[in-house]
Amino acid sequence: MSNNSAFQEISYAGQVVIVTGAGSGIGKSAAQLIASRGAKVICIDLNQSGIDECVDLITKSGGAAEAVVLDISNQKNVMDLIATLGSTHKRIDALVNCAGYPGPTGKFVEEITWSDYQKVIEVNLFGAIWLTQAVLPIMKKQKYGRIVQVASIAGKEGNPKMAPYNTAKAGLIGFVKGVAKEVAVDGITINALAPAVIATPINVNTAKETLDYMISKIPAGRLGEPSEVAEIIAFMGSKACSFTTGFTFDISGGRATY
Ligand SMILES: NC(=O)c1ccc[n+]([C@@H]2O[C@H](COP(=O)([O-])OP(=O)(O)OC[C@H]3O[C@@H](n4cnc5c(N)ncnc54)[C@H](O)[C@@H]3O)[C@@H](O)[C@H]2O)c1
Repeated sequence: MSNNSAFQEISYAGQVVIVTGAGSGIGKSAAQLIASRGAKVICIDLNQSGIDECVDLITKSGGAAEAVVLDISNQKNVMDLIATLGSTHKRIDALVNCAGYPGPTGKFVEEITWSDYQKVIEVNLFGAIWLTQAVLPIMKKQKYGRIVQVASIAGKEGNPKMAPYNTAKAGLIGFVKGVAKEVAVDGITINALAPAVIATPINVNTAKETLDYMISKIPAGRLGEPSEVAEIIAFMGSKACSFTTGFTFDISGGRATY
């Protein structure tokens, strides 16, 4: 262990961190990295086998984790679970919200059914809002907290034929900006992250024309890796991220330079 103070700032020793979407892709990778830096990680997902595997990987490497199945688009269940976790663990140091799904792709906006539209917003935006509402009272009480909301380049630039996803992720970016100003005096930072295309299962059902469009926009000429995204998330969720809030971090291989 280093005595370097910068190292102490990225350490999660003694912390309790919630990672949603930990059953796959970016969330799974972030959960493992944050656990390796000392946190007890609560791995949340719809997908039981995914979070069981994530917890298994963490515990086999000497870390601490537990798995909880939750649909983040169920407001009551989100509120009840976070309250229970807060009282069981006595604290929640960071929320890393990676749960999400793209919904319809390759369809013009007027072709998308309202139920499909609504579901994408319920998961990617409302779920993020409810998780934030649930953790903030706990973080305010402890005068410390880090919230990481995984948005998307789609929320900054808009991808054609992905209207519900663009809407939800842009809403999330706006949500983060205002809430950050509300909680800045409470020792809490809340930031969004806007990845371009990352090599995870989320893209398996994406229409080929939409995926080709998104990849063609990346100057690095390749997809990002979940481990690359996990590094920036681990910074955003750590003590080190103390004076940046309301911001949308970029991880886009050069697609966005703002
Ligand atoms: N991979 C990309 O290209 C990319 C790009 C930009 C943004 N993102 C965002 O990154 C986040 C992580 O995506 P990923 O690439 O790791 O995808 P992934 O499909 O590998 O993982 C997403 C996880 O979220 C879970 N999930 C979905 N809906 C849920 C719900 N209602 N409640 C609880 N869990 C739910 C899924 O079961 C899955 O395990 C998402 O918010 C996604 O929108 C991904």
